[in-house]
Amino acid sequence: MERRLDAWLSNLGYSTRKDAKKFLKQNDLTVNGVKQKYPSFKAKHEEILLNGEPLDPENILILMNKPPRTICSHKDDGALIFNLLPARWAFRIPKVSTIGRLDADTTGAILISDNGELNHKLTSPRSSVSKVYEVTLADPLKGDESDIFASGELMLKNEDKSCLPAKLTIINDKLVHLEIIEGRYHQVKRMFAALGNKVEKLHRVSFAGLTVEDLKEGEYKFINIDDIK
Ligand code: URA
Repeated sequence: MERRLDAWLSNLGYSTRKDAKKFLKQNDLTVNGVKQKYPSFKAKHEEILLNGEPLDPENILILMNKPPRTICSHKDDGALIFNLLPARWAFRIPKVSTIGRLDADTTGAILISDNGELNHKLTSPRSSVSKVYEVTLADPLKGDESDIFASGELMLKNEDKSCLPAKLTIINDKLVHLEIIEGRYHQVKRMFAALGNKVEKLHRVSFAGLTVEDLKEGEYKFINIDDIK
């Protein structure tokens, strides 16, 4: 789609629309190899190079291995997950957000996108997206946890609907994988709390079939929307 250069620059967060003229003076922007300095000039995304580089993608969909002590919110002060992304992405229109949230101390797979429709689809209560967590427990398993989680009858404190069946895979008596298809508030911690145990460490191994084992903490990679299960 053809757009004015000032629209590309402001929507992708490089400059405000107002400052686009100054930005084009201070940077080398070419359209099909020809330098352009007028904000009103129209071009397609793929025709533009900025200082010799393609523009950031029109759509953002990334998978990050969330580090600990980072917050999935735009509102809080402090160590926001968004601070790990290029600074200009904070000014993109539409806004870049996490798809669902992980607690500040939880690490692992989190999708970040500017696609509101996809965000809604993957986080709606009917979406049944698989999330696999590696859970380190404070106390050893008692032995009945797998059956209780699988039963679909576990009630969480202050809720009136039981959890959907979840699959527990035991690695050792204090380390498990738990697969859930819901996304209730603090769900994994509350599921173990309901059985009298405590989660010491929580890492999301995969979200919608996407794993972060190839990413270091804080690293991210672009994802194709078709790779989401
Ligand atoms: N369940 C939790 O308790 N915390 C998370 O961050 C994710 C799932």
